[in-house]
Amino acid sequence: MNLANNTVLITGGGSGIGLALATRFSKAGSKVIICGRRREQLEAAKRECPELILIPCDLSSESERHTLFSRVSRDFPELNILINNAGIQNRPPALTEAQDWEKHQQEIATNLEAPMHLSMLFIPHLLKQQTSAIINVSSGLAFLPLSFMATYCATKAALHSFTMSLRHQLSKTPIKVIEVIPPMVNTDLGGKGLHNEGTSLDVFADHTVKHLEAGDLEFGFGFSEKGRLASREQLNEMFLGMNK
Ligand SMILES: NC(=O)c1ccc[n+]([C@@H]2O[C@H](COP(=O)([O-])OP(=O)(O)OC[C@H]3O[C@@H](n4cnc5c(N)ncnc54)[C@H](OP(=O)(O)O)[C@@H]3O)[C@@H](O)[C@H]2O)c1
Repeated sequence: MNLANNTVLITGGGSGIGLALATRFSKAGSKVIICGRRREQLEAAKRECPELILIPCDLSSESERHTLFSRVSRDFPELNILINNAGIQNRPPALTEAQDWEKHQQEIATNLEAPMHLSMLFIPHLLKQQTSAIINVSSGLAFLPLSFMATYCATKAALHSFTMSLRHQLSKTPIKVIEVIPPMVNTDLGGKGLHNEGTSLDVFADHTVKHLEAGDLEFGFGFSEKGRLASREQLNEMFLGMNK
């Protein structure tokens, strides 16, 4: 993939991994549209990279996903890359305790329903472009769940599965289907300070760009690269180590 001369929609592009990719696509000469719920966060991103185009929206809402698709396909008919990056990570009480189901539903709607639905909405549009791509951001936890975040990990495992099917179904079309599998990266995911131990954002974003430019369809980094390639036996061992 060439990072220049694209029109890209990056969900959750106002912060973290989404913003790091947005600035790299933009600096390479692509037009980049970012969306997210917090208008002030999108505006902060625009101060960092003034060329970004902002669309505030809540992707956990089905009707807002339809509105986003209508607006983007009308205003940017040349859009050729969709990056499904938006995500949330909750830390619910143990599953033996009472649960706030609405929070689990919100996580499923944001991390899984939104990328599935947006992919389905944009496929007819992307089929009209000469080169196009859907890039889904999953997680190393798709392969190796941290049991105390059971729902988050399940959404990412399902997104990995959906991405494999999508890639297979679209294999005879011009749409490339790519899965970016981050390890722990230093962002504010789940709240400030929870991911400070992670890989530096710039290191991970540069690594991602390198793989996109090389045309790779699935890649991780460090722990997530190990997890994605591990045998079932190795996964069992790693799972027990992580969930002591
Ligand atoms: N950081 C890590 O360690 C790590 C590891 C593996 C995978 N990932 C994945 O990488 C992706 C990016 O996360 P990040 O680490 O960069 O964290 P982040 O900075 O919190 O980014 C998440 C983005 O998603 C947006 N978002 C959340 N809910 C949304 C909704 N309902 N509608 C629209 N936008 C929404 C957020 O903006 P608003 O809050 O303004 O809506 C935010 O800009 C996520 O899918 C995450 O699961 C991260």
